[in-house]
Amino acid sequence: MRESGVSHLHQGFCFFQYKIKCSFLVDLIKMPIHSYPILSTLTVFTLSHLIMASAISAETVDPVKMVDAFEAAGGKFEGYRRSGAKGICATAEFVGSTEGRTLSSASVFSGQKIPVIVRFSVGGGNPKAADNAKSQRNMALQFNLAGGETWQMGNISAPVFGSSTPAQLLGRLESLTPDPSTKAPNPEKVKAFAEANPEVLLQGKYFASQPVPASFASVNYWGVNAFAFVNSKGDKQFGKWIFEPSTGLMGLSDEEAKAKGPNFLFDELRQRVKDGQVTFSFNLQLAEPGDRLDSATVPLPEARRKVTLGSLKVTAVSEDSGGACRDITFVPTVLPKGIEPSNDPMLAARAAPYAVGIGRRLFEGSKQ
Ligand code: HEM
Repeated sequence: MRESGVSHLHQGFCFFQYKIKCSFLVDLIKMPIHSYPILSTLTVFTLSHLIMASAISAETVDPVKMVDAFEAAGGKFEGYRRSGAKGICATAEFVGSTEGRTLSSASVFSGQKIPVIVRFSVGGGNPKAADNAKSQRNMALQFNLAGGETWQMGNISAPVFGSSTPAQLLGRLESLTPDPSTKAPNPEKVKAFAEANPEVLLQGKYFASQPVPASFASVNYWGVNAFAFVNSKGDKQFGKWIFEPSTGLMGLSDEEAKAKGPNFLFDELRQRVKDGQVTFSFNLQLAEPGDRLDSATVPLPEARRKVTLGSLKVTAVSEDSGGACRDITFVPTVLPKGIEPSNDPMLAARAAPYAVGIGRRLFEGSKQ
């Protein structure tokens, strides 16, 4: 369950002059032959995003150590995503608004229907995670734009992430890792880390304050990291986005959640999509001078103006757990022209561990 499965012989060995360590390439090299077409696409993606990542943050992360820490803390489930393991793939259409076009030259806002691949999931690395728990839901998107451009993002059902830097995420995971003798995290370690890093508790407090979502389509999804929207005149507007369900928020009482059991979200989504009811408004909260743009644990002030960038309608849900999502990892620095990353260190730090994650699950035989 908790083996690491990764050779550390090549740690620190790097083909690049950038500050991100490249030992994750060892994972990629271990892929079976049938994964090579994916591997080459992935490598091109990975290299280009490492280059982008190096330009936006100098924080050093060992992505292999990071993914090992996910496995050690949450268990290792072969063939599944190390985060958002229990998920379902869908397709959608996005139509951009006039306000979107004013803020950004990205072709996604053209007003034409843009095809989108969607993956809804329950937070954590356990593919049997309970749907009726007060925990994270995710909505990851890939917009397939004209000319082969793509825009990828992973959005979560909380306005904040569970850590503000990659080092803090690693520390938190290490503090939550079960002690081999007790098979449970050491409460003193957990407490000491949280006391020294109080922002790691914000997300859990948020989930505890909210009801269990009645549907993947009845909860808000936040991007949590800031991005810049750049228009054809070169004007740059920073903001943080939220996908808000058009039919409103719906939660379950504790009794209702218990009665629903641990596996209701997939069928519920299928029915709702059949009924044509799954639409989200893609809204951007506009940052103002002085707002913090480099932290996924500090939301923009609530009073910031919100504009609607467009509308996302989910049109079909895959029959089984496979579908178009299986061979995709949703890297938030895969951006179209007209959208740029902020200097949030959590953005730059994601491409490499995501590459390790997809490398491992494809090598193991990807389940979904
Ligand atoms: C350094 C910070 C982070 C690390 C190391 C990390 C790591 C990972 C990994 C390894 C996966 C599985 C990838 C795969 O197998 O395809 C994943 C999935 C995911 N992460 Fe992160 N993550 C980080 C930060 C964040 C943040 C800030 C968000 C908030 C928006 C986020 C949202 C997601 C979502 C929504 C998924 C599921 C995507 C899907 O359905 O494929 N992650 N993360």
